[in-house]
Amino acid sequence: VNNNINSVAARAHTNIALIKYWGKRDEKLYLPTSTSLSLTLDSLYTDTRVSFDNDLDKDVLYINGELQDEKSTEKVVKVINLFRCRYVADDSPYIRVESYNHVPTAAGLASSSSGFAALSFALRALFENQYLPESDSIDLMNDTELSAFARQGSGSATRSIFGGFVEWVYGTGSSDSVAVPIDDGDWDVAMILAAVSTQRKKISSTYGMKHTAETSAFYPLWKQVSEEDLRVVREGIAERDIDKIGAAMEANCMKFHATMFAANPPFTYLTARSFEIIEYVHELRDSGLSVYFTMDAGPNVKILCRKSERQEIHDKIAQRFADITLFDAASGPAPHIMRDET
Ligand code: PMV
Repeated sequence: VNNNINSVAARAHTNIALIKYWGKRDEKLYLPTSTSLSLTLDSLYTDTRVSFDNDLDKDVLYINGELQDEKSTEKVVKVINLFRCRYVADDSPYIRVESYNHVPTAAGLASSSSGFAALSFALRALFENQYLPESDSIDLMNDTELSAFARQGSGSATRSIFGGFVEWVYGTGSSDSVAVPIDDGDWDVAMILAAVSTQRKKISSTYGMKHTAETSAFYPLWKQVSEEDLRVVREGIAERDIDKIGAAMEANCMKFHATMFAANPPFTYLTARSFEIIEYVHELRDSGLSVYFTMDAGPNVKILCRKSERQEIHDKIAQRFADITLFDAASGPAPHIMRDET
């Protein structure tokens, strides 16, 4: 065991889905009902340090300096155990995980995507530093395989293993339901996140998607309509056509929320404030700007626009909704190991 390298920190960026992941076909492996597609963002991210600690009698998780209870640590332990198993390190010391979200936690600003991506990225380095030098039977893990590990902590984290526009493909099983980078997003595309609320959401995405998949009258249509929207968004990205991408993204968002309106009992993550912003997005679009919305498992609205028009749109929204916090973003990078940054 190499005692010199027993701690690693990684930074991973959040992503916002243009085509949503909503429902698992395998709840243990986290295999999705359909392929999703996202944009990784530059300005919202999680920094996570993982350390082997001989003094611990279990794996522990701190988020923003606060020790989390056993329930909130469960999925992290699940992911750590996948790495133990992969690196044949069942008797490895317990791990301290210290995570700092540069994004509000669990408020529909995708902290779980960056969180589990940073965790997985750091764990790969930690285990490879510790166990590879001594072993001739362990293979290096590439980013594709890593994305399948991140997936089992949080589905959306699969896509944060790469930068730019990324697909999480349906796959045939665990080893090929992985992230595939499709475009670096290094062109005239941007997002503005309108944080209506940074409160922790009442209905987790895990519960929300399960309840929807099990009870919604519209859910049987989800996979097919989602694939149709996906095809259009893919074309739009290839053509760098923001209006084509935006229109299909909005349509997919509305169908996604419609599945919840048709659940039994029905529910929604959207609030009156979300709809006020949607209306304003329409108003801005009518004025000639390329501006489109999407929303996830929370009331916050994510706005897709041209990078060259982002400032103008930001200023207009800020003026109209003085109480709403706006986060500007553009295409962000893949995770990286942090050296002397923490
Ligand atoms: O994997 P989770 O629990 O973060 O689920 C995310 C689900 C949505 O954000 C609503 C959609 C998506 O594809 O990110």
